[in-house]
Amino acid sequence: MRFDRLILLAATAGSVVAAPVKNFAKRASPFQWFGVNESGAEFGNNVIPGAWGTQYIFPDTSTIQTLMDKGMNIFRIAFLMERLVPNSMTGSFDTDYLKNLTEVVDYVTNAGAHAVLDPHNFGRYNGAIISSTSDFQTFWKNVATKFASNEKVIFDTNNEYHDMDQTLVLNLNQAAINGIRAAGATSQYIFVEGNSWSGAWTWVDINDNMKALTDPQDKIIYEMHQYLDSDGSGTSATCVSSTIGKERVSAATAWLKTNGKKGILGEYAGGVNDQCKTAVKGMLDALAADSAVWLGAMWWAAGPWWGDYIFSLEPTTGVAYTGMLSTLEAYL
Ligand SMILES: *[C@@H]1O[C@H](CO)[C@@H](O)[C@H](O)[C@H]1NC(C)=O
Ligand SMILES: *[C@@H]1O[C@H](CO)[C@@H](O)[C@H](O)[C@H]1NC(C)=O
Repeated sequence: MRFDRLILLAATAGSVVAAPVKNFAKRASPFQWFGVNESGAEFGNNVIPGAWGTQYIFPDTSTIQTLMDKGMNIFRIAFLMERLVPNSMTGSFDTDYLKNLTEVVDYVTNAGAHAVLDPHNFGRYNGAIISSTSDFQTFWKNVATKFASNEKVIFDTNNEYHDMDQTLVLNLNQAAINGIRAAGATSQYIFVEGNSWSGAWTWVDINDNMKALTDPQDKIIYEMHQYLDSDGSGTSATCVSSTIGKERVSAATAWLKTNGKKGILGEYAGGVNDQCKTAVKGMLDALAADSAVWLGAMWWAAGPWWGDYIFSLEPTTGVAYTGMLSTLEAYL
């Protein structure tokens, strides 16, 4: 989803408490993973670095716990590269930002769920398209070094590359994989994303070259995004039709099968209305029918500052928490 200006509501700092270990293996879900995006640390990207509590906030671990109690087992945690490494892509960490991010990650993984590290950067750093694969590889090597011993961390190379050279997108993803493995992070999954906002509906036309990515650990997962409004941007609560969900993922499913790849729907949403609920269900049913290649899905989005945002799944007042979660719970 494209990042629009967000209205920031009152800041509330989440308190960190010990999470009980849940046995996710008992779940009857058709998916390995079912969860949500956690927004906050990437907010206010028009002010860099911005101030904690004013431009951005970290996800609230108590509401993450509420979603875990519902059975969710994957949380995609957005952050900004410019805040994590303020001086340059290859520079040192802002240790305070890293600590806050790590606290959320550890909360999720200590509970037995997977935490997806999502640099929400659209293939850009300080507003410019990332063109140095070598710098990007170093960035990922440095990040992965910090999380190398946590096998429940998943590395997502970047959120939604767009309007970039197609070979560059391929090479940036490969550089990230190489950097992560060079850091000794060898057990973790890596989510790769494609150009054109990593859309599932355009994947085959745009991102076919991504099948060339290689990983010595063979743990690449293709992360695609899909919204169900007319332009697929996820900015409207109106879905095109009740069948648009399954229609928009079908070519991507065929691509995954043909090429022997695995995928995850890393972002999806529809408005809280009957047409969208049927469309969302149709899409998830289609993924579930091909769960050999589709490992799961993550709703867009939860997070403490969404307010009355049309897709907010933040417990307990988010409009999708009250109006859409019951539809999603069939897959938990
Ligand atoms: C996840 O978070 C950010 C918003 O803060 C957004 O820009 C990105 O596109 C999100 N994914 C979805 C589903 O929108
Ligand atoms: C980290 O979180 C604490 C609150 O727990 C806050 O005071 C601090 O400003 C945050 N720092 C950054 C860089 O986000």
